[in-house]
Amino acid sequence: MAKAIKIFDTTLRDGEQSPGCSMNLSEKLEMALQLERLGVDVIEAGFAIASPGDFKSVHEIAKVVKHTRVASLARALTKDIDAAAESLKGAAYPRIHTFLATSDIHMQYKLKKTPEEVLQNAVEMVKYAKKYCEDVEFSAEDASRSDPAFLYQIFEAVIKAGATVINVPDTVGYTSPDEFYNLIAGIRDHVPSIDKVDISVHCHNDLGMAVANSLSAIKAGATQIECTVNGIGERAGNAALEELVMNLSVRKDLYDLTTNIQTKEIYKTSKLLSSITGVKIQPNKAIVGENAFAHESGIHQHGVLANKSTYEIMTPESIGLTENKMVLGKHSGRHAFVDRIEMLGYALEEDALNKAFEQFKMLADKKKVVTDKDIEALVRRKTVAI
Ligand code: KIV
Ligand code: ZN
Repeated sequence: MAKAIKIFDTTLRDGEQSPGCSMNLSEKLEMALQLERLGVDVIEAGFAIASPGDFKSVHEIAKVVKHTRVASLARALTKDIDAAAESLKGAAYPRIHTFLATSDIHMQYKLKKTPEEVLQNAVEMVKYAKKYCEDVEFSAEDASRSDPAFLYQIFEAVIKAGATVINVPDTVGYTSPDEFYNLIAGIRDHVPSIDKVDISVHCHNDLGMAVANSLSAIKAGATQIECTVNGIGERAGNAALEELVMNLSVRKDLYDLTTNIQTKEIYKTSKLLSSITGVKIQPNKAIVGENAFAHESGIHQHGVLANKSTYEIMTPESIGLTENKMVLGKHSGRHAFVDRIEMLGYALEEDALNKAFEQFKMLADKKKVVTDKDIEALVRRKTVAI
C-alpha cells in the first residue's frame, strides 16, 4: 500500500504573515474547521506569543478541532514555549513547534551566537517543550543555507532530546530541486536516529520553486510537507497545498504516495480562504484558478468534448468542482458552439446554424467572452448589444 505523506498546513500561521491575509478569531475558526474537513494532518494555528489575538486563536482552535493535530509556533525561548503550551491546553493532539536559525548568516547577525551555543540552546528548548508536550517539532530556520554537517549534528542532538519531527525549511526560497534532494538524502544518511522521527520540509516560493522543491524532498525521503492553501505566506508565499496534493494524486506513476486529503474539498477551501481574506486567486493559478479547467480554443474544446482526457489531466470533480468550463471566445470552434446551443435548449437547421456561427465569430472578435445571453440572442436572431 502506498505510504501517506503528512500534510502540515500553516495557512493560519505562515499564511497569515502574508500582507493582507490577517484573519480574525471567527474567520480562523471557520478556516480551521474547513482544514479539518479537508483532511490535513496538522493545523499550525498560530504563533501564541506573537499577540493576545494569536494566543486566543490557537487556544480556541485547539478546543474545537477534534481529530487533527494542532501546532503552536515558538522561538527557542522558554517564554515562547510556555505561551505555546498554554495556548494548546484542551487540544486533543497538541504539538509544540520550536525553531532556531542554523545558517551562518542568521547565527552571526541575527542570533549573535556560535554554532555550539545554538546547538545547546536547541537541545535545552526541545527538552523544555517536552515537559509540556509529547509531540515536539524542531525547525532549523534557514536550513537550506546552513552547513549540512552542522544540520546533521543539531538534528541528531534534538532527536536525542525528544524531538518527534525535524523540519528543514527553505526559509528564503533559495534552494533548487536537485540541491534540496541532496540535502534531505544527506540528512537521512548522516543523522543516525533519523528513522525515529518525521522529516518535514517547509519551502518558500521566492524563486517560484516551493512546490518543486517539496516534491523533490519527498523523493529523497521527507515524510511531512508544510504548506498553505493558495500558497499564501511570507513574501512570495509557501508551497501551495492544492498543487502538492494534486501532484501526488495525479502523478502516482512518479510518487506512489498518498495523503489523507479529501481532494473534493480543495476548491471549497481555496474559495473560503479567498473570501475571508479578500485576496483574489490569480485566474491562471494551478488547480484552483478560475481558468484551471477552462477551455477556449476550438481545438481544445473539440478534443475535450470528444474525450476529456485529451486536454484535462485531472477532472474538475476531483477538486470539488461540478464541471469544466467552456469559454466561448474568438478561438472557439463550431463543436463548442453547437454544444452550447444544445445545452441552452436550441436545435438549429444547418443553414440557420451556419449563419449563427458566422455571427458568433464576428461578435467574438469584438468581445473577450461571448456569454450564454449573447448566444441566445444570436440564435433567436435578435440584435446583440456589444
Ligand atoms: O520559513 C521558516 O523558516 C519558518 C519557520 C518558522 C519554520 O516559517
Ligand atoms: Zn516559513
